[in-house]
Amino acid sequence: MTDSPIVVEADRLSRRFGPIVAVNELSLTVARGEIFGLIGPDGAGKTTVLRLLAAVMPPSSGQARVLGFDIRHQAERIRQAIGYMPQKFSLYADLTVIENLNFFADLFNVRGARRHQRIAELLAFSRLAEFTERRAAALSGGMQKKLALACALIHNPQVIFLDEPTTGVDPISRREFWDILSSLHVQGATIIVSTPYMDEAERCSRVGLMYEGRIAECDTPDGLRRLTPGELLAVWTPQVMQARRIAAALPGVLEVQTYGDLLHVFVHDAAAIAPQLAQALAAAGVPVTEIKRAQPRVEEAFISLIVGRRAAT
Ligand SMILES: Nc1ncnc2c1ncn2[C@@H]1O[C@H](COP(=O)(O)OP(=O)(O)O)[C@@H](O)[C@H]1O
Ligand SMILES: [Mg+2]
Repeated sequence: MTDSPIVVEADRLSRRFGPIVAVNELSLTVARGEIFGLIGPDGAGKTTVLRLLAAVMPPSSGQARVLGFDIRHQAERIRQAIGYMPQKFSLYADLTVIENLNFFADLFNVRGARRHQRIAELLAFSRLAEFTERRAAALSGGMQKKLALACALIHNPQVIFLDEPTTGVDPISRREFWDILSSLHVQGATIIVSTPYMDEAERCSRVGLMYEGRIAECDTPDGLRRLTPGELLAVWTPQVMQARRIAAALPGVLEVQTYGDLLHVFVHDAAAIAPQLAQALAAAGVPVTEIKRAQPRVEEAFISLIVGRRAAT
């Protein structure tokens, strides 16, 4: 292991499955102490990237180092040093919470007083101390994720790879899970976490937006928001599709996105366009509940980027 400030260094990593290019010449650097979010839709290649970096699967081409170890030639060193929570983490459903923790402690050779202390710490921070005798199968989805995380942290790794730890978990458990990640981060851990949820970008120090096997853009959440062209008007209306057509036809409108009964209209100049848009909607008889200027989110930045890229090809 090294004391280098660089924890992950990937250089043109690719992974193919037959004709499918899951990861396409991806380069990435993660520094010690970051919470790096790999964010993108299903099929973007997040799981494959994490498998390559966790050294559980070799790349088709390219190279990477994790904590200074080569993913091809020093896979075992990497697996011992890092914490890795795969997307489908295999807890033992028939084992209790404490039995699962003991199982992983055996696997990572954490023994004696150290084991005792580590399990007590993990039970406390994951708030599972009251449930030690419950079988994993009988835990809620959110608690299973927390147990999986606790198991992945049994050997106190300083670098943690988490693959979609909050997918399919209710919003409260998601928030709680992120609070746990934040406290690990405060304690000095480096975290690389994948998620399909754009709102989770806000909790990362840096984000890689993944699409079709590549990192389309990599920046801080603020930096990504600044990539969104122009300004944003939020329009609430019961007639979204009609409103969308009208907005899209208005000069000065860059792009329109819909979310249920909410319309996001990207414009060059919100102050100038807002009254024109209101007028055009009124003239067409489209009722508007509210229209106001809004702050673009990382989600909008991502969609704009992808739409822009598709238009360019
Ligand atoms: N073991 C595999 N065999 C064949 N195709 C795979 C395999 N793993 C992933 N893929 C394909 O690679 C692409 C990226 O998948 P994945 O890395 O799981 O993306 P994500 O985690 O972002 O959903 C998808 O098209 C997926 O179907
Ligand atoms: Mg995945």
